[in-house]
Amino acid sequence: MLVLGLETSCDETGVALYDSERGLLADALFSQIDLHRVYGGVVPELASRDHVKRMLPLIRQVLDEAGATREQIEAIAYTSGPGLVGALLVGAACSQALAFAWGIPAVGVHHMEGHLLAPMLEETPPAFPFVALLVSGGHTQLVRVDGIGRYQLLGESLDDAAGEAFDKTAKLMGLRYPGGPEIARLAEQGTPGRFTFPRPMTDRPGLDFSFSGLKTFTLNTWQQCRDAGDASEQTRADIARAFQEAVVDTLTIKCKRALKQTGLNSLVIAGGVSANSALRQSLESMLAGLKGKVFYARPRFCTDNGAMIAYAGCQRLLAGQHEGPEIKVQARWPMEQLPAI
Ligand code: KG4
Ligand code: ZN
Repeated sequence: MLVLGLETSCDETGVALYDSERGLLADALFSQIDLHRVYGGVVPELASRDHVKRMLPLIRQVLDEAGATREQIEAIAYTSGPGLVGALLVGAACSQALAFAWGIPAVGVHHMEGHLLAPMLEETPPAFPFVALLVSGGHTQLVRVDGIGRYQLLGESLDDAAGEAFDKTAKLMGLRYPGGPEIARLAEQGTPGRFTFPRPMTDRPGLDFSFSGLKTFTLNTWQQCRDAGDASEQTRADIARAFQEAVVDTLTIKCKRALKQTGLNSLVIAGGVSANSALRQSLESMLAGLKGKVFYARPRFCTDNGAMIAYAGCQRLLAGQHEGPEIKVQARWPMEQLPAI
C-alpha cells in the first residue's frame, strides 16, 4: 500500500511517501525555524499560514523524487494531534480534501505514536515488547510498548518536557531557538566537572520527571557567574555541559529503573531530544551493562517529519482503520487512548 504522510503539528511541514512493500520512497521537510527564531519560539498563527504555503509544493516534490504519480497513492496519513490546533487543521483539511478528490481513505495519526515508531524505518528495527522513552518539545514519557496501540504509560514529566527544558534554558542563557541543538553544540566545548547540577526526582521512587527546577538552577548559576564578572563563552559552555549532563543522567537513571521494573532490556528513544548524542551514548553504555540494546531513528527522523506519519498511518490503514470525511484534530490526546491493532 502506497501512503502519503503529512506532518503539520508544529513548526515543520513534513511530507513523505511510504510503501508497505518497498519501504520509504521519498521524504521532504520544510522547517520554519528561521520564521520563528526572531520571536524566540513558535508563533502558532505564523506556523499555520506557512504550512498552507508549503504543503502542495512538498507533495509535488516527493512525488517527483519517488517517480510516482498521484494516481498511485492509495491512502493519506496525517497528524491529527496532539499539537497546535491551527497547524494541525492545515494538514487535516488538506488530507481530507485530497482523499475526497482522489477517492481514497485518510487516517489521522497520533504525533507521538509517529515518533515512537520512527525507529521502525531503520535497518535494524526494534521488536516488541520494549520500553520507549519519548522526549520531544512537548512530551517526556516512559512507555511500555507491547505492540502498535498497546501502550502503558510508566511515567511522565510533571512540568516541562525535556525538549522544552532545553529550549527554555537556552533562551535564559541568550542562545537561539531551538535550544536543544544549541546547548548540545555548546556543551561539547564545556569543561567536565566545573559545575554539577541536581538530578531531579532521582532520589525518590517512581518514573516521573520534573525539569523546571533544573532550568531555574541553571539560570541562577549563569546569573551568579555574570554578577561575578564572568560571562565568558567558556563559562556558558561549562554551564550548558552541566545542564545537559543533568538531563541525560536523569533520563538514564529513569530508563534503567523502567527496564528493571518491566524486566525488559530493549529501549527505544524517540522525539527531538533523541537526536542528542550525549543521551544516546549514555543510554548505550547503560544498556550494554544490561546486555540489551538501544534503538533510535536517524537524526532527521528524530525531530518532526512526514516519514514517521506515513509509516504509522500505513500500519493502521493495513489494519483496516481510517477516518470518515470530517476534519477533526485534537490539541491534547493521551496515547493510551489509541486502539490496539
Ligand atoms: O519531536 P520534536 O521535533 O517536536 C515535538 O514534537 O515537540 O522535538 C523538538 C525538540 C525541541 O525542544 C528541540 O530543542 C529538541 O527537540 N532537540 C534537541 C536536539 N535536537 C532537537 N534537544 C537536545 N539535543 C538535540 N540534539
Ligand atoms: Zn514531534
